Amino acid sequence: MREEFYRIKRLPPYIFSEINTLKENLRRDNVDIIDFGMGNPDIDAGKHIVNKLIETAVKTKVHRYSASRGIPGLRRAKAKYYERRFGVSLDPETEIITTLGSKEGLANLASAITAPGDLILVPNPTYPIHAYGFMITGGTIRHIPSLAKGIFDAEDYLKTLSRAVLHSIPKPIAIVISFPSNPTAQLCDLNFCKELVKFAQKYSIWILSDLAYAEIYFDNNPPPSILEIDGAKDIAVAVYIHVKNFLHGWLASWFRSS
Ligand SMILES: Cc1ncc(COP(=O)(O)O)c(C=O)c1O
Repeated sequence: MREEFYRIKRLPPYIFSEINTLKENLRRDNVDIIDFGMGNPDIDAGKHIVNKLIETAVKTKVHRYSASRGIPGLRRAKAKYYERRFGVSLDPETEIITTLGSKEGLANLASAITAPGDLILVPNPTYPIHAYGFMITGGTIRHIPSLAKGIFDAEDYLKTLSRAVLHSIPKPIAIVISFPSNPTAQLCDLNFCKELVKFAQKYSIWILSDLAYAEIYFDNNPPPSILEIDGAKDIAVAVYIHVKNFLHGWLASWFRSS
C-alpha cells in the first residue's frame, strides 16, 4: 500500500507544529517558557458576541447546514462594513464569500485557481498558508524577499516583482501580498497598492491580498485595502478577518456568480 502522497510530500514542516513539539518537550522537563507560537487572543470575544452566540445556539432552525457562500444577511453586513471602512462598494450577491477562516479561504482559493506547475509569487518571510496553500495544490512558489534591505522598501519590492515576472517561465498566475504583515509587521500605503494594481494589470496577474490585520494599527492610521484602487476588483481578491470580533474570515472578490 502506498504510504507517500504527492501533495503531502511537497509540504515543508509546519512551523507551528514544530514549535508546539518544542514547547511540549520543554514543559515536560518543567522548563518555564514564554510562548511565541501561534498567537491566540488574550482578550475575550466581547459580551455582545458571546450573548448573540448563546441566543442563536438555542434556535433549532440554525442546527443545519448553512448557505455555502454565507447567509445573505451576513454578506450584506460585510458589504456595509467594507463601504464604511474602505469606501469600497461590494455586491453582497456576487463579490463576497464567507469562509470558515482566512486559512481555509486562502487554501480553497488556491485549489480553485491553481493547476499543477502554475507559478505563484509569495513574499518571504510570510504566513505559512500563503505558500503552502499553493504547494499542496501542485503549484510552484517563487519567493520574493520582503525585507531585502532589512526593512520593507516598496520601490525595491516592485522592482523585484518585476524581475520575477520577466525572468519566470511559465509566467506567474498570482502575487500574494499581506500588509500589515505577519511576521514582519510591514505596512503598505495606497500608493504601493496603486502601483501593484498597475503592474498586475500590465502582466495579467491576480493579486491575492491577505488583510488579516487590517484592524490592528497605530496613530489612527488604518491600513488600506487593495480593493480601494480603481479597477482592482477585476484582478484582486482580498481576504479579510474581522479581528475585532474574532468571528470569521471572508473573501471579497471579483467572484461573480455567473
Ligand atoms: C496573516 C494571517 N493570515 C491568516 C491567519 C489565519 O486566519 P484564520 O484564523 O481566520 O484562519 C493568520 C493568523 O495568525 C495570519 O497571521
